[in-house]
Amino acid sequence: MTCVSGILARLPLRGRIRPGPLVHRIAVIAGDGTGPEVTAEALKVLEAAAAAEGFTYDLTELDFGGERYLRTGETLPDSALEDLRSFDGIFLGAIGHPDVAPGILEKGILLKARFELDQYINLRPVKLYPNVETPLKDKGPDEIDFVVVRENTEGMYTGMGGVQYEGTDHEVSTQIHCTTWRGAARAVRYAFELTRRRNERKQLHLVAKTNVLTNVGGTWWRAFNEIGDNDYPDVTREYAHVDAAAMWFVKNPEWFDVVVTENLFGDIITDIGAIISGGLGIAAGGNINPEGVSMFEPIGGSAPKYTGQGVINPLAAINAMHMLLDHLGESAGSARVEGALVSALQSGKIKSMSAGRMGMGTAEVGDLVASLV
Ligand code: IPM
Ligand code: MN
Repeated sequence: MTCVSGILARLPLRGRIRPGPLVHRIAVIAGDGTGPEVTAEALKVLEAAAAAEGFTYDLTELDFGGERYLRTGETLPDSALEDLRSFDGIFLGAIGHPDVAPGILEKGILLKARFELDQYINLRPVKLYPNVETPLKDKGPDEIDFVVVRENTEGMYTGMGGVQYEGTDHEVSTQIHCTTWRGAARAVRYAFELTRRRNERKQLHLVAKTNVLTNVGGTWWRAFNEIGDNDYPDVTREYAHVDAAAMWFVKNPEWFDVVVTENLFGDIITDIGAIISGGLGIAAGGNINPEGVSMFEPIGGSAPKYTGQGVINPLAAINAMHMLLDHLGESAGSARVEGALVSALQSGKIKSMSAGRMGMGTAEVGDLVASLV
């Protein structure tokens, strides 16, 4: 870290002499199960991209995950959050351990990072690469290429609500959906900006359930239309109820360019997005705080049954690395990684996106992509 003080600090940013080469500081949480295996391959590809483009980075490995929790009872302590804030980006392998009850690691690590670091956008590209099998008949890369902007800090994920009279006939449980104007508006604004710069199509879908969830749906609807009318008249606005969107992702994925939606709907429809674009072996996403630190991850979990076998597909992690590089401003490096991923797929050597069926091992796939960077 170089400290700019005195006269230099008072110059406008663009006029400053950059003190030495820029070093991207990346925190790496490899996590549980197959997380470390896929992370190793993503880092291999990062190294190749840095060598090719001449940028530098600095990795800090952090051991948060199931093993640490079982050892110490700690998930993601507040001190770690403070530390994480100082990085330029975070790479996350996978969280989830068979010996830890559901919810503890998800809420204690993944959701805590998303919430506390205010990573209010979950950006999930749905892009079918060449030579990747899709379960959709008569659809190919030209038809499956859109992005879902999932709100990442509100909805049913806030933990509002509770359980009373548990274990009796009178048991009552509520899990409240919470949407704030600020939360909806900032997600909508991010989506409009993305739509504007993504391509010439400039079409943004709001996905909600305004016919039943009229309270929260109304907030989303007003934010979408007010912000669209005022600031994005060049973007075409479309609307779909979430149930219809689920159907159309399968039947007519080419209808979509950018989609914006609340947290839980986004969680569900991006799994549809993942499966139509090759599955969890290749799907990646970014938890983004445009004003803070962002975290990139393969969408799939820790896949305990494949752990240590060297058969898990590292392409999702490599894809997440491509997104992280773009976020760090290394657009040439990012394009290089995506290009290498596409070339590796086009080589025909990777037989399937599914663990154990690639016809190659995890490290071999990583080596192949790295060699093409
Ligand atoms: C995802 C996952 C998480 C979510 C879980 C693991 C908490 O399904 O990233 O989509 O629900 O957001
Ligand atoms: Mn999910």
